Order: sequence, then structure tokens, then C-alpha cells
Amino acid sequence: MREHLSADASGHDMHHVWRVFRLAQRFADELDADSEVVGCAALVHDLHRVLGDGTGCDPEETLSVIEEMLEGTGIGDERTGAVQHCVAVHDDLEFRDEDPEPETIEAKILRDADNLDAMGAVGVARTFAFGGVHGTPLWDPDGEDYSQIYHFEDKLLRLQNELHTDPAQQLAEERHAFLETFFERFLAEWHGEA
Ligand code: NI
Repeated sequence: MREHLSADASGHDMHHVWRVFRLAQRFADELDADSEVVGCAALVHDLHRVLGDGTGCDPEETLSVIEEMLEGTGIGDERTGAVQHCVAVHDDLEFRDEDPEPETIEAKILRDADNLDAMGAVGVARTFAFGGVHGTPLWDPDGEDYSQIYHFEDKLLRLQNELHTDPAQQLAEERHAFLETFFERFLAEWHGEA
């Protein structure tokens, strides 16, 4: 994974992977989930961002690569299948008509941990890193172009209501409040009001 993600500057590098890993392990402990499944899933979850032509593909398309990666680890077929399910349903992708729901506690944990890394101070930093890499403007006050600030309204500020587990919801409260503070402050400064 280190090789796959080494060129990333969009906030989906190995540091993101380890942050998701740490949160996911914490939730797995609290919820008595399978920490090996959760840990492996956290490590490989963002492969879909770099496979294919490098612009991202459906996580479903990464499952066979994940199977190969896990083959030599001794984790076994059952847990490999569980990891694949976590990865397949962890993201909310625009090109899919309907997003698959996480069916296991491990899949819910991965999805929550990944979403929490898009909230709070780290979430703010990652939004602008991602926007910089993709050439998205900071903000378009006329609302005509997709902007990084629009991404707050479109996605980040909704994440709090889309979490599946209690420990993630508890952490999300402060992270969500920080996002709102940043968002309001940004707009006030933009208009010369603060
Ligand atoms: Ni991720």
C-alpha cells in the first residue's frame, strides 16, 4: 500500500490510512468487532483511488487485487471475504446510482473511521489538499462552480448524520462543531465581516 499511495498529495496517503486504522481499531475494541478484519480493511481501503487509470475506480474493481495481497498473510478466506465487503461498501461514490450499505459491524466501523477523517481539523486540511490537486477553486460565491467550500455543504457537514456506530457519533460531535466554526468563519472573512 505504501508503494501504491506514495505519490498521493490529495489527503489519501499512508498517513490517512494509519489515521483510519487507529480510529477503526479503537472502535473495534469498543464494539467487540474483529480487529484483524477492520485493520486489514483500513490498510487497503483506498486502493480504488490509484488503480485503473489512476483517477479512481469502483472499489469493487479492487477486490481481486486485495485478495491477492491478503493471500500470503494467513488471514484466511473467510476474513478475506469480510475485508472485501468492508472495502466494497466504504465509500459514497457519485458514479454509482445506489450506494451499497455496510452489512457487518466491521464494514460500519471502516466507513465511520474513513468519514471521521473527513471531519474536524484534519478534514479541513484534507479538503483543501484534495481541491489543490484537482484544481478546484476555494469558493465560488456565485455558486456556479464546484468549490472546496461548497464541498463542506455538499458533503462534510452531512457526515455527522451518516455515521453507523455510537463511538464514531461521539467523536463526530466535536469534529462537526469545528467544521461549522471553520465554515462560518471562512465566509465571514470572505465578506470582510470578521
Ligand atoms: Ni479513505
